Amino acid sequence: MTQEPITLLQNKRIVLAVTGSIAAYKAADLASKLTQAGALVDVIMTEAAERFVTPLSFQSLTGRPVYTNLWQNESSGALPTHIAHVGLAEGADLLLVAPATANTLAKLAHGLADDLLTVTALAARCPIVVAPAMDGSMYQHPATQANVATLRQRGVTIIEPESGRFASGLVGQGRLPETITLLGHVRLALGRSAALAGKHVIVTAGGTHEAIDPVRFITNRSSGKQGYALAQAALDAGAAVTLVTASDLPQPVGAQIINVSSAEHMQQAVLEHLATADALLMAAAVADFRPQSRADQKIKKKDDSDEAPTIILARTPDILLSVKDRRSTTGRPYVVVGFAAESEKLLAHARAKLERKGLDLLIANDITAPDAGFEVDTNRVVILGADGSQTPLALATKTRIAEAIISRVTHLLP
Ligand code: CTP
Repeated sequence: MTQEPITLLQNKRIVLAVTGSIAAYKAADLASKLTQAGALVDVIMTEAAERFVTPLSFQSLTGRPVYTNLWQNESSGALPTHIAHVGLAEGADLLLVAPATANTLAKLAHGLADDLLTVTALAARCPIVVAPAMDGSMYQHPATQANVATLRQRGVTIIEPESGRFASGLVGQGRLPETITLLGHVRLALGRSAALAGKHVIVTAGGTHEAIDPVRFITNRSSGKQGYALAQAALDAGAAVTLVTASDLPQPVGAQIINVSSAEHMQQAVLEHLATADALLMAAAVADFRPQSRADQKIKKKDDSDEAPTIILARTPDILLSVKDRRSTTGRPYVVVGFAAESEKLLAHARAKLERKGLDLLIANDITAPDAGFEVDTNRVVILGADGSQTPLALATKTRIAEAIISRVTHLLP
């Protein structure tokens, strides 16, 4: 499947510097994913990196010239040598060094400038993100740690390497994270100056689980996809995001994740974080009913009888109503967004819900439409506003719907 374009990355110029680590091959995948997402990727390779991967690989994946040498005389559309060292950094939105060897970290920390990468790093005015990768215990060495600390102090973002087994067979911390994680860090760095910078957004996602006994529960068909897309859109817009989730989809990089199971559990987590929240987006499909009591032991069937237990249901707390109540005294969060999944009289039911729950926006979604609602990647919604507005959005991916919702929220924030 080709990757969906990432709005935040459209036409962003990313200088990807690749150094001589065995993980250099992973940078090829990263260059490919960044390009597919819409970024313009200029690759710089150190001499050592060329021993692991060829410039042609990167050139083919990015469709752009690859820079290998401070002194090269390029005739293929690359910047002329005499300006490449400052020209690459000029106008770049991000400098990403991945993988960064111990040697490159040391050079960056001390301001050495003996190759195109290090010269570019000195000339760069854009955010710098560095993903160290090295074998054995090199990452833990006090010299490397001191260099990492120096770079951090200077505002460089360090992506912590992961622990695991190295090519050498040794085990330790030093592995380059997977592309999806690196991409998440790129998004965080680029989003930092966007419209929601300095704001705190809480998003809930997934269907709650209401326990019957230690092994059984009642849940619903919500996948959590729309909620996760909202969390990512809020991160891309620069917000600090708390994702209160009953789903186990891959975690968006940079979000504070709070795993919950039941409606009651989700309510606790939401209320706990409300005091600092600027916006709350309740995308979770919260169960309206739970088993009245949870059996302490697994409920056993009787072999000699067809008898089946009766499960008596009780109401769960309405989280949005408790938020409405809290908000009437604290004023926070400033913006509250609810979601309504309806199977009939969509707009009338949705408008009533918006008013009853004291919402600023309600995202109404007809779950009978084949390409909208639960589990699928697309959605068809109408955004209702407390001001009486009614905005239908065309069928779109949950990512694009999330961006439209986050944009509305941004405009409503004080
Ligand atoms: N919601 C909530 N607490 C609940 C149930 C729902 O906060 N116990 C939130 C959902 O997260 C969603 C909105 O309320 O944002 C609407 O949820 P929905 O289940 O569609 O509405 P209900 O109020 O439960 O009404 P009904 O089931 O009658 O349609």
